[in-house]
Amino acid sequence: MKRIGVLTGGGDSAGMNAALRAVVRTALSEGAEVVGIQRGWLGLSEADARPLTSRDVAGILHAGGTILRTFRYPDFKLETGQEKVGRALKKLKLDGLVIIGGDGSFRGGAVLDKTFDLPVMGVPATIDNDIPGTDFSIGFDSALNIAVDAVDKIRDTASSHGRIFVIEVMGRSCGLLAMQAGLSTGAEEVIVPEIPFDLDAICRRIEGGYDRGKQHAVILVAEGAAKAPYIEYELKSRLKRSIRMVVLGHVQRGGSPSAADRILATRFGVEATRLLLGGERGKMVGMVSGRLKAGPLATRSDVARKQVLAYEQMLRLLT
Ligand code: F6P
Repeated sequence: MKRIGVLTGGGDSAGMNAALRAVVRTALSEGAEVVGIQRGWLGLSEADARPLTSRDVAGILHAGGTILRTFRYPDFKLETGQEKVGRALKKLKLDGLVIIGGDGSFRGGAVLDKTFDLPVMGVPATIDNDIPGTDFSIGFDSALNIAVDAVDKIRDTASSHGRIFVIEVMGRSCGLLAMQAGLSTGAEEVIVPEIPFDLDAICRRIEGGYDRGKQHAVILVAEGAAKAPYIEYELKSRLKRSIRMVVLGHVQRGGSPSAADRILATRFGVEATRLLLGGERGKMVGMVSGRLKAGPLATRSDVARKQVLAYEQMLRLLT
């Protein structure tokens, strides 16, 4: 009987539990044994694992976070950290591992696959949606909906007071979450890491908007481009208007996954497990143009960047 492990790594994202449930139940139905690695990469280095049954993953499809938990383990980049993981893997006696996580976890997964000869299959899960090889990662849609809901609410109060709001959105070095939130809410400006910004030009456009009768200005700023307090400070020094700032932060990572994320997570979890048990390795599953597609782990591409640029043009056209 095959014995596979499953781990959630990096920042949590809504839908990780749904993917975990799919992995466990698919593996069990194919006659494999499943162990859950607890506390992500840190837990892996300590062989912190427990067997998972179908009942262990009952009632988690809708739950935010990850029941396996996820701790970051920067030591994995060091030789000593990798030696520790190597010793833990000997104890765990796994025939394969499904990694539910982001690009950092996939880089780690590629090391496990190549250096430690452990077959690995990746399931992309991050609110940043910055993983090459898939149009969507688990958690992005949920985080986007949270951001949209928050911006809609802030716009109400911004309009009542005629204010400018600077709202910081997560996404690490990728501006997709901020840009799609901006497009979905009709934000006046979206500042993203992929496009250089000019504060004087932004101020001119905002004043132009007020001249045309706008009641407010909403500026979304991706955390990878600038921090909201900095933008607020700079705008206050240029404009004689009431300006407020909000950092959405980790609220974007919590809560129940959207229906779209539950379905994506379920499809990814089933596919990754089937492929791994069928002998595939060193890959991640992705959704490309509506179809499941397995591709290499840890590659680089500028698809997300191209999408951000295309969305920015649309935003300019419509504001
Ligand atoms: O990668 C997911 C993410 O939520 C990023 O958007 C954010 O920059 C980062 O994780 C925050 O990490 P932490 O939870 O360690 O503060």
